[in-house]
Amino acid sequence: SKTIKKICCIGAGYVGGPTMSVIAKQCPHIDVTIVDVNAARINAWNDKNLENLPVYEPGLSEIVEEARNRNLFFSTDIDRAIDEADMIFISVNTPTKNYGKGKGLAADLKYIELCARQIAAVAKNNKIVVEKSTLPVRTAAALKSILDNTGNGVDFHILSNPEFLAEGTAITDLINPDRVLIGGENENAIAALVDIYANWVERSKILTTNLWSSELSKLTANAFLAQRVSSINAISALCEKTGANVDEVAKAIGMDTRIGSKFLKASVGFGGSCFQKDILNLVYIARSYGLTEVADYWDQVIHMNDYQKHRFADHIIQTLYNTVSGKKIAFLGWAFKKDTNDTRESAAIYVADYLLNEQAEITVYDPKVSAERIYADLDDLNSRSSDENRRLVKIVNTPYDACDDAHAIAILTEWDVFKTYDWQKIKEKMKKPAFVFDGRKLLNRKELEDIGFKYYAIGE
Ligand code: NAD
Ligand code: UDX
Repeated sequence: SKTIKKICCIGAGYVGGPTMSVIAKQCPHIDVTIVDVNAARINAWNDKNLENLPVYEPGLSEIVEEARNRNLFFSTDIDRAIDEADMIFISVNTPTKNYGKGKGLAADLKYIELCARQIAAVAKNNKIVVEKSTLPVRTAAALKSILDNTGNGVDFHILSNPEFLAEGTAITDLINPDRVLIGGENENAIAALVDIYANWVERSKILTTNLWSSELSKLTANAFLAQRVSSINAISALCEKTGANVDEVAKAIGMDTRIGSKFLKASVGFGGSCFQKDILNLVYIARSYGLTEVADYWDQVIHMNDYQKHRFADHIIQTLYNTVSGKKIAFLGWAFKKDTNDTRESAAIYVADYLLNEQAEITVYDPKVSAERIYADLDDLNSRSSDENRRLVKIVNTPYDACDDAHAIAILTEWDVFKTYDWQKIKEKMKKPAFVFDGRKLLNRKELEDIGFKYYAIGE
């Protein structure tokens, strides 16, 4: 197979940035250039101050520091990077379509198509094009058609190489993956990509399949993972009614090796840019093939997740004597999980929206999420004016400021640092009775109750 010397990655986001940084680190003999239309993002990746990188992931800034301007480059010159590369990864966003046919369900592939057209227009020699974005099954056929019909007569080979990293653990996931999946038709192209990963991943963990299996496996993996969370969350509601404890149930079932213990943590609901989008896409694909029962089956995973977010907010309102109007509620955490600054589809956004509809006043503290991001998330809901969002929601720089004078604290993200706070001091400055609603089952019930909190945790 052809030895790859230069890689281009289109899309410098949460996937393109970390993934390519790790390839550059593990393959010093390969030049990796990450390009993006978003110049501000590229500038941030090139910022001398590593605190300003656009993606926060433990271990990422060290790798960028080591490889940047050695064999890792960030640029807005997309044409040049395409022209020079032997292999081009497409890692652009594929959000849920918000217009037209499939609105609210299908993946919007316009950015993918733009990439294909740009690659075709620029390429003057043969290229291997790698789907790194998560795509509906059979997208490779559309890509191939665009490349072959609009190109300059050069050969394109398409591979599917979905990314399984989870945010917050992206670097360890990339350095030590459970498996790498490569789908394709052309043996040489497949071998070229296998050779890259083989620089640090055991061959036995590099799985090769046909294109369609690879594309579909990514949607399937996310659907199965999300389904586990919705399943345990469904049981959490039943635990609250019956005196069972959801952590005890999760442990008891998880010790069955057929079920397994991971991904059974009950929560206020899953968030993140992937689970909901990918399941909706799966539902849309199933419906488009007339597979109504299949579509309905997976749709329930989303319904259960929406229910869990509402159930949590409802419980807060009911407990606070059926009104939160004018009451201050402190949110600890806004990110969709710990160790990331990403807030896409975070449960916190929807819980806040629900409480704001009840005229609550919310104060937010998150160790990594900016105030601009939080206001943008609320404004994007179009539930109320941006002035009103700024009047009702305050973002503060310490947890103590957030909790000062609050009627209740809601824990929305499982940041480890929350466990280390002086909860005695926090309680003293709160309205009484002081309530904690733990949407992540993070804190210690006994410790909080001994201090005098009224403590609620999901599924207990
Ligand atoms: P992102 O929004 O963080 O990054 C995408 C980037 O692509 C943006 O910076 C955007 O400006 C750029 N872009 C869009 N169109 C472009 C174009 N035509 N030319 C150049 N740049 C362009 O998205 P992400 O979270 O990195 O996700 C990317 C893909 O990876 C999605 O398909 C997603 O489903 C998939 N994925 C995401 C994760 C995750 O944890 N975030 C994990 C696995 C897979
Ligand atoms: C997910 C997949 O795990 C990853 O393989 C894929 O590449 C991208 O989508 P990510 O969304 O980054 O990764 O994080 P993940 O750890 O899967 O968590 C998703 C959401 O589920 C978070 O909101 C998390 O808090 C929640 N979750 C996860 C639970 O509520 N309980 C669990 O047991 C696990």
